Amino acid sequence: MQNNTFSTLFVGQNLIKLSAVDSTNNFLKSLLSKSEPLPEGTVIMADDQFAGRGQQGNVWHTETGKNLTFSVLLKPSFLLLANQFLLNMAVSVAINRALVKYLGNDVKIKWPNDIYYGNKKIGGMLIENTIVGTTIKSSIIGIGLNINQQHFPTHLVDSATSLYRILQENVNLELTLAEICSHIEVAYLHLRAGKDSIIKEEYIKNLYKIDMQSSYRQNGEVFEGMITGVTEQGLLNVMIAGRLG
Ligand code: BTN
Repeated sequence: MQNNTFSTLFVGQNLIKLSAVDSTNNFLKSLLSKSEPLPEGTVIMADDQFAGRGQQGNVWHTETGKNLTFSVLLKPSFLLLANQFLLNMAVSVAINRALVKYLGNDVKIKWPNDIYYGNKKIGGMLIENTIVGTTIKSSIIGIGLNINQQHFPTHLVDSATSLYRILQENVNLELTLAEICSHIEVAYLHLRAGKDSIIKEEYIKNLYKIDMQSSYRQNGEVFEGMITGVTEQGLLNVMIAGRLG
């Protein structure tokens, strides 16, 4: 891929495209640990990620050559550790913005950082921060999005979807990656300029099931509640039977 697809200042300008790797997050982490400095905005993408990692130690499965699996290096040293959820919000908002172009307003952010269409997951992210003192020295933002995958394993059929399954047509992977990088850069620059409120408002506005009565489960207990927002630390505010939980 040629880097001139990217009309960004820095996100994606140093693009490393791999045909196969265990995990783009692992690859970026090991590159970062080597002596030479790696520019902010470096993106590692892979056609085949054979040991992709998901949230909570899960495995991230993806069909070779069909989807986007990539990791972005950011250096948000301006962010206090206590505000690290802002980065999660900014990247979620960026992906949401990029996908709305293809899918319209039914794309939602499922707290904390899954991307949903209807009741099915299109993608997610795994953010791994390196902390020094009270600031974030570097952040590896691994993103997996189901783009042109047509078929999912039986255990995922009811819970996962892709752009192809929704649109019934293939989408150009390189172009979509360039668009996402551009949205990540814009949202990140908002954070860097201290315009957190733009990001927070958009994140909350696009939350899956915001202001909708729904069933939730916590510690084995099922209850009716309504998501009303998120706290500064990134915890969900859920109104349970008229009170805030
Ligand atoms: C999740 O929803 O569980 C998060 C999935 C994150 C997957 C991406 S794919 C690129 C990057 N490399 C990894 O090993 N994981 C992330």
